[in-house]
Amino acid sequence: MLIRPWRTGDEHLVAGAERHLSAHSIDRRFLVGSGGRLPVFYLRHIAAGPRPEWDAQVALDGGELCGWAEYGRCPAGSTAADLAVLVADPWQRTGLATVLIRALVHRMVAAGVRTIQADVSGGNAASKGLIRALVGPGWSPTYEDGLLHYAFDLAAVPFEPATASLLPR
Ligand SMILES: CC(C)(COP(=O)(O)OP(=O)(O)OC[C@H]1O[C@@H](n2cnc3c(N)ncnc32)[C@H](O)[C@@H]1OP(=O)(O)O)[C@@H](O)C(=O)NCCC(=O)NCCS
Repeated sequence: MLIRPWRTGDEHLVAGAERHLSAHSIDRRFLVGSGGRLPVFYLRHIAAGPRPEWDAQVALDGGELCGWAEYGRCPAGSTAADLAVLVADPWQRTGLATVLIRALVHRMVAAGVRTIQADVSGGNAASKGLIRALVGPGWSPTYEDGLLHYAFDLAAVPFEPATASLLPR
């Protein structure tokens, strides 16, 4: 398993990963009824590549994209960023989201981000469990527009440095 920063052209890997993504997983990530397809607007968005307002970390297994974590911020220099992650179904619950987020957070800090925000649906047990595993049980979300809204001050979050770029399969 290779964990590395997003490179221009990785949008083709994302399109190829669609066959490993259930409609349920895509729906959870994009908070819509996706019909099992990644949103076209999203594929265009990521095709613009890494930039101050957007960047990502990817996981590859034998050349196949099996998950990615990303952040976006508007405006580009904002100290608050939205974080999202999607792990393809065959690789879920192998620790991948945890590793991707830890690696990405270090790059976010370097890019000047100080606060992470995430919106998840109330029924998304996997996301709630992931957040609890990453930052501990002490963080409670607020409820906004029908979603759970989390906001973490990075200085208060015990993220460990990403020490390895290769994981055992
Ligand atoms: C949420 C998601 C990213 C988790 O990815 P993952 O790689 O499976 O997560 P990890 O293996 O790193 O799990 C870390 C912890 O999260 C929790 N967790 C993960 N999946 C869970 C589930 N289905 N139910 C309950 N807890 C879960 C557990 O505490 C887990 O630790 P454990 O496996 O030791 O018990 C993945 O399920 C996913 O891609 N879902 C669809 C998209 C989505 O909801 N994205 C988040 C909103 S942007």
